[in-house]
Amino acid sequence: RKPIKVALLGCGTVGTEVVRLLTDQAADLTARVGAPVELAGIAVRKPNKHREVPAELLTTDVDALVESDVDVVVEVVGGIEPARTWLLKALKAGKSVVTANKALLAEHSGELFEAADAAGADLYFEAAVAGAIPLLRPLRESLAGDRITRVMGIVNGTTNFILSGMDSTGAGYAETLEEATRLGYAEADPTADVDGFDAASKAAILASLAFHSRVTAADVHREGIAGVSAADIAAAKGLGRTVKLLAICERVTDNGTDSISVRVHPAMIPRSHPLAGVNGAFNAVFVEADAAGEMMFYGKGAGGAPTASAVLGDLVAVARNKVVSGRGPRESAYAALPVRPMGHA
Ligand code: HSE
Repeated sequence: RKPIKVALLGCGTVGTEVVRLLTDQAADLTARVGAPVELAGIAVRKPNKHREVPAELLTTDVDALVESDVDVVVEVVGGIEPARTWLLKALKAGKSVVTANKALLAEHSGELFEAADAAGADLYFEAAVAGAIPLLRPLRESLAGDRITRVMGIVNGTTNFILSGMDSTGAGYAETLEEATRLGYAEADPTADVDGFDAASKAAILASLAFHSRVTAADVHREGIAGVSAADIAAAKGLGRTVKLLAICERVTDNGTDSISVRVHPAMIPRSHPLAGVNGAFNAVFVEADAAGEMMFYGKGAGGAPTASAVLGDLVAVARNKVVSGRGPRESAYAALPVRPMGHA
């Protein structure tokens, strides 16, 4: 069968790993997909800075690459624009899209889903939430026959590293953040993580999929961890609890009418809860559904190789769909539930 041609947009930590996995596992991927998966080009800003990937594949002309005869566009650039414009163009041309872009999905999932459905194209984004952990496909597909009532997770590794550290050492917030920065677990500007913006974007994506609705980051009530003190952690301990930054997406039923509540805030959870044992930079998401009951997804939520694993899984899925001229789940046709006003708990 003729190769599935792939355009890669971006070649940072994740992109470099995507290229490495695609190259190292070419034979296995061909067997799994039923056709060779061929990298047709890699769009980057500065080609001379990417010595670890084949120079002949590098280009600065993203539009030309997206408009070429590629079957799949994989985006690992991040940020809303120009990624949104590139991916809409790809979808409208019927190309499958795989993206790790949580900010984009948290703002524009509706527009992207509609473009995908109008063109009969695939849109997969497993890497956008909780890195390597298979989570979005289970919500979209494995649990599609069930009724999910709650998704509650630790979806930010930076804040979990800080809170776990405070819990084990008894140290304060500022001191522990400093330590996390020194060890490379927190970014130089940790605002998006510690103020809960990163977790709020992920909560919006989780709620959209779990409840087949449209939830954006602006719908998410958000409180970060900067206000959590050593005394709060000690008080929680005294109650047999620990403090975690949770993203909580709930189906709420009032007088027979369903709506959604989505929020991110520090919460005291019993030390016996499965999420209480999730420490360091790990992520975990606890899901409750009517028929399935309770389940938990646990693993690495960030990093080049773990995130690339999720991107490759999506790439194999969309390539397989191309081989059989089929496609994955559609999202634009679902009946949406209203989101409760901010601040409602
Ligand atoms: N800053 C994120 C975290 C990286 O700390 O979890 C993954 O999105």
